[in-house]
Amino acid sequence: MLIAGFPDTREIAKRVAQSLGAHYTEVKVKDFPDSEFHIKLKKNPAHQTVVFITSITKDPDDKLIETILASGIAKDYGAKKVVVVATYFPYMRQDKHFKKYDSFSSKYILDMFKHVDKLLVIDPHLHRIPKMEKLLPQAHAFTVNDLLVEYIKKRFKDDFSIVGPDEESAQWSQKIADKLGKKVVILKKTRFSSTHVKIKEKPLGKNIIIIDDIISTGKTIVETIKMAKRQGANRIICMGIHGVLVNKADKHISKHAELITTNTIENKYAKIDVSPAIVNILKKYR
Ligand code: R5P
Repeated sequence: MLIAGFPDTREIAKRVAQSLGAHYTEVKVKDFPDSEFHIKLKKNPAHQTVVFITSITKDPDDKLIETILASGIAKDYGAKKVVVVATYFPYMRQDKHFKKYDSFSSKYILDMFKHVDKLLVIDPHLHRIPKMEKLLPQAHAFTVNDLLVEYIKKRFKDDFSIVGPDEESAQWSQKIADKLGKKVVILKKTRFSSTHVKIKEKPLGKNIIIIDDIISTGKTIVETIKMAKRQGANRIICMGIHGVLVNKADKHISKHAELITTNTIENKYAKIDVSPAIVNILKKYR
């Protein structure tokens, strides 16, 4: 098995390669003068399973092209199997035509991966379409919920309740609370735009851990923090699987709460390493 990383997934990919006793290589990404990418593999991918570990965010469109071209090289040069592990997979929230003539993005973005043998995605935002396989048969989602459970058990000994800031978060907040045997409050959110949300008030508790899949602009989390503070909360922890953290979301959140994410997207709040979950799933695809 050959594990290939990109510059921003180098550390995770190296750890995964080491745990699996596999070779590591890095995808060489260069620009042509007209800004197109020139992608090259440094090792021969022939006759082995080649796994690309990619985090398709920050510049998601660039990262998509890099990942598609790199995995295409492995396919063309005789890899036995081409596997892409996306620690973060973008465009999943646009999972229908929300407004007349807007894009059903997840459908067409997933379709760009039909040349790979397996696309494994960490906690994609699945909502109206419950399984990635519905859009691309070789795509498969896996969760790092257990790593959050372990982290919470080690770090937080006080009594606390789990808060899911919206109904979509239940697949993380509810499931994590169940594993911890803790009370959970799932809130109801209305989204008016990408930066404007409203959340219906409910009693939250004194010590709370808010859990969501994606923290992007942070508006969802900040609205939840405001509610908790109005109710006189003592300690507020915010956990996100994917710290997209745009528009200084982290600054707004960390003023009032401790922010913790995984390293599916590298950032300074990434305290939970997802490489053990990647190793586990890859053992099935050797
Ligand atoms: C959507 O429902 C997701 O689960 C998150 O709640 C959402 O992506 C968070 O976005 P933002 O941080 O921009 O409020």
